[in-house]
Amino acid sequence: MTRPDCVTRPRRRSPLDLRAALAICLSLAATGVGAAELNLYTTREPGLIRPLLDAYTAKSGTKVNTVFVEKGLAERVAAEGSRSQADILMTVDIGNLIEIVDKGLSQPVRSTILEAAVPAQLRDLDGHWYALSMRARVLYAAKDAPVETATYESLADPNWKGKICIRSGQHPYNTALVAAFLTRHGPEKTETWLKGLKANLARKAAGGDRDVARDIAADLCDIGVGNSYYVGLMKSGRGGPEQQKWADAIKVVMPAFEGGGTHVNISGAVVAKSAPNRDEAVKLLEYLVSDEAQVVYAKTDYEYPVKAGATIDPLLASLGKLTIDTTPLVEIARNRKAASLLADKVGFDN
Ligand SMILES: [Fe+2]
Repeated sequence: MTRPDCVTRPRRRSPLDLRAALAICLSLAATGVGAAELNLYTTREPGLIRPLLDAYTAKSGTKVNTVFVEKGLAERVAAEGSRSQADILMTVDIGNLIEIVDKGLSQPVRSTILEAAVPAQLRDLDGHWYALSMRARVLYAAKDAPVETATYESLADPNWKGKICIRSGQHPYNTALVAAFLTRHGPEKTETWLKGLKANLARKAAGGDRDVARDIAADLCDIGVGNSYYVGLMKSGRGGPEQQKWADAIKVVMPAFEGGGTHVNISGAVVAKSAPNRDEAVKLLEYLVSDEAQVVYAKTDYEYPVKAGATIDPLLASLGKLTIDTTPLVEIARNRKAASLLADKVGFDN
């Protein structure tokens, strides 16, 4: 189905602009004129994915309108209801994707292309959401720290006392990690682990992942927990020269669960429940998991492609081989609330 570009953009328009746009929309709708289009609502900076969307338009002839919704994506689409023009909702963190599905804002998509490209633990088995890229929760360590391998479990070992830095236990990145631990080990072991980790902290659990690198560089801690892409962002200089120095002071140790792999989270997308251009939406998702797109999509934010065999950015590849933990993300997502309560119980952030 073809549609005019009638999406409200986040930038301000004068009433005159809006009236002119509406007139164009109405006349195009009346005549059915216009190329195929679809509307992508994203919590990710559209600038980062724009080159990819333009490449898709050049290839398919389908125009992709983007609406940047920095916060409250699910609330906004819920408020728009059946009038929503959203075709695809794109965001980061499994928790946010599950929230969209739980609010009834997605629809199931069956696609042999999507199912072949996205590993089963990184998509909803009913097709409500698909991962498009991954980020690993890794260890940052001082360059000279005598640590080459580590398990998440070992972060509670007393030999790390006073040597670990980490952000709040209530931050979604850590909630997902604790939820993954909980999924593997159950509540009792998880509580003991959290207490041990808390006892090992060099400072209050606070700040961001990049502050972990900063504090390792300042010799405040020896190791810490952070997302993989921040290393790329810091090393590349995109965050400024100071962050480049922090990145130079650390090395990355790829941790794994005992008998498992490295905990990952995802960026992903759903097809909106009332998508006016459903078929176009599915086609774009299929393009985003193609070899060609996966490399670019993942690279723009130093993330890992979800598609096996897609080329990894050299900077990311230099961090070490990523073997992802196979615990299904849906199970991890289900344990988020319990994980958050456990972090509270042990006073992780106090
Ligand atoms: Fe982040």
